Amino acid sequence: MRTPIIAGNWKMNKNIKESLELVNGIKENNLAKDVEKVICVPFTDLKDVKAAIKDTDIKLGAQNMHFEESGAYTGEISPLMLKEIGVDYVIIGHSERRQYFNETDETVNKKMKTAIKHSIKPILCVGETLEQRESNKEKEIVKTQIEGAFKDIKVEDVENVVVAYEPIWAIGTGKTASSNDAEDMISFIRETLNSLYGDVSENIRIQYGGSVKPANVKELMAKKEIDGALVGGASLKAGDFTKLVNF
Ligand code: 13P
Repeated sequence: MRTPIIAGNWKMNKNIKESLELVNGIKENNLAKDVEKVICVPFTDLKDVKAAIKDTDIKLGAQNMHFEESGAYTGEISPLMLKEIGVDYVIIGHSERRQYFNETDETVNKKMKTAIKHSIKPILCVGETLEQRESNKEKEIVKTQIEGAFKDIKVEDVENVVVAYEPIWAIGTGKTASSNDAEDMISFIRETLNSLYGDVSENIRIQYGGSVKPANVKELMAKKEIDGALVGGASLKAGDFTKLVNF
């Protein structure tokens, strides 16, 4: 049985004061116990949010990190710095990082290895553009991203990885992939993982992301292969995040 996992990706939103208001709002609500809950907050909020969630079962995530532990990388954040704060998860290879910050399958793979080395669980993002989908290349693209990200990663480490399928055309656009399209791609991702790791792929959780909101989460989560959601916009309101968790 794969435990469902609902993760909020706050992106570049919420200063410290606002982050605490949001977390305190979430904490006041009754959140399902049998669903894993993660909030991936800006670096500057991590420490305060960690303190604010200490008596809860909400997990903390970062949205990126560097693959080296230290060095002359101005403006970057090391996995050791995240570890010190007690970060549980890190988003790796989000499409916005691939698109605006030149993240490649190679740097994604290096970050995956570093995260695993330091016991920070990766939330690995993959997904195609609209153009790639319209030219029927979406599976080829996602397969390449998965194979690139998992290159040289050992079978004993993969159960801690969460994969998020986020079709780029569905992010922040209000367009959700239909639950059938999402299920179809997520099944394909599991087959790809199966060809790399065999039966262990059954234990890897795969989320859908892209305009998930309270109104569509139930239908998505009813699909057999969809194990969770990675949510941007709708994770920024305590009431909506609660509804997502309690799908
Ligand atoms: P939205 O939920 O705002 O479409 O964002 C999805 C996303 O990119 C989560 O990582």
